Amino acid sequence: MLFNTFSFKKLLAIFVVILVLVCSCDSFKIKVKRKVQDFRHVSGNKLKDYSENSTDAASGRGFFPPGSIFTLGKVLNFFPVGGERECQPSQGFTARSGICLNPYDCRQRDGRAGGDCAHGLGVCCVFEVTCGGTVQNNLTYFMSPGFPELWGGRGDCNVTIEKAHAGIMQLRIDFVHFSIGQPNRATGECDEDVMTLGEEGNQFKVCGQNHGQHIYHTLSTDTEAREADELAGHRRTQLSVAARGSLVPRLWLLKIAQMPLANAAPHQCKQYFTADNGTISTFNFAINGRYLADHQYQACVRRSAGACSIRYAPCAPRSFRIGPGGGVQTYGAGELHSHPSLG
Ligand SMILES: *[C@@H]1O[C@H](CO)[C@@H](O)[C@H](O)[C@H]1NC(C)=O
Ligand SMILES: *[C@@H]1O[C@H](CO)[C@@H](O)[C@H](O)[C@H]1NC(C)=O
Ligand SMILES: *[C@@H]1O[C@H](CO)[C@@H](O)[C@H](O)[C@H]1NC(C)=O
Ligand SMILES: *[C@@H]1O[C@H](CO)[C@@H](O)[C@H](O)[C@H]1NC(C)=O
Repeated sequence: MLFNTFSFKKLLAIFVVILVLVCSCDSFKIKVKRKVQDFRHVSGNKLKDYSENSTDAASGRGFFPPGSIFTLGKVLNFFPVGGERECQPSQGFTARSGICLNPYDCRQRDGRAGGDCAHGLGVCCVFEVTCGGTVQNNLTYFMSPGFPELWGGRGDCNVTIEKAHAGIMQLRIDFVHFSIGQPNRATGECDEDVMTLGEEGNQFKVCGQNHGQHIYHTLSTDTEAREADELAGHRRTQLSVAARGSLVPRLWLLKIAQMPLANAAPHQCKQYFTADNGTISTFNFAINGRYLADHQYQACVRRSAGACSIRYAPCAPRSFRIGPGGGVQTYGAGELHSHPSLG
């Protein structure tokens, strides 16, 4: 009887040990999977729905199938390709830039590959969103529905911009193409069509024609955000185009770049010009364009090494005019030239 109990206990112990081994083996596998995910995470990814499918992949089908001829290619696919640098797609896109990513990251982040970069290790990954989309990557293009066709629809076309990582200070938005309805003729207000960036208190509104313009938008860093322990993607910025005018053909392609402190424009500069010469013009500076109401902002020019002055000149005889206010139009476009110092 005593012997029997002992052997039963022993058996039970062996069983438990086997069970523990099996379990720890499994949990080891899980750890490996997590590692792989973390590795991918390094390049700033959202895990999204990804975890579900990676489990399949990690359990043998996708990752490193032993002896597979594709193993090397797969391994290379997981290499982060140096710093997500800007690149020009060699195929399939006009007037877009992308960021250099490994092909796997590009697919997972819903980008489209436009040729090779980093000596063939990566692809030049282009990100595009339209109405209802979310911007999660640096250099994402927001375009009108059906771009490059004109859009005659009405309603709101909104996108949400999430910081690619917590260190993002500003957005730089380039108006590659931009044509929506004109402001109110009498008041200059964008009371039908309007593009709105940001929330009340830190908002920029524009309408009309603005090809070639750009703006810097400093993201709010209020106490609320800091208290909420700001994480990547935690703080969202709304960018919306309200299309309310009738019979207005619209078209836009906006390039949205996320700027870390190192590449930010100086404080309070809505525009920042860094070239030695160029053109500064008010928004909606166009034939039959009207100066927009409530546009008080600073356009800043970076001082080039060795330059000591700037020469401004009107682009055309009637291209620069300011008035005493009270209904007088104020607008301008001028060229600027930095002059090399003589010393
Ligand atoms: C997982 O993969 C299958 C086919 O490979 C696909 O149909 C499904 O949408 C994927 N699920 C997620 C969450 O990505
Ligand atoms: C789009 O954004 C605007 C301004 O941020 C907001 O008033 C409007 O409700 C939004 N529309 C939709 C459909 O989300
Ligand atoms: C985004 O791209 C711009 C332009 O290439 C670059 O200046 C900026 O540093 C990039 N931002 C991040 C977070 O990499
Ligand atoms: C503007 O600068 C570029 C290069 O810095 C130069 O080639 C060009 O001639 C300049 N244009 C004018 C009008 O000064």
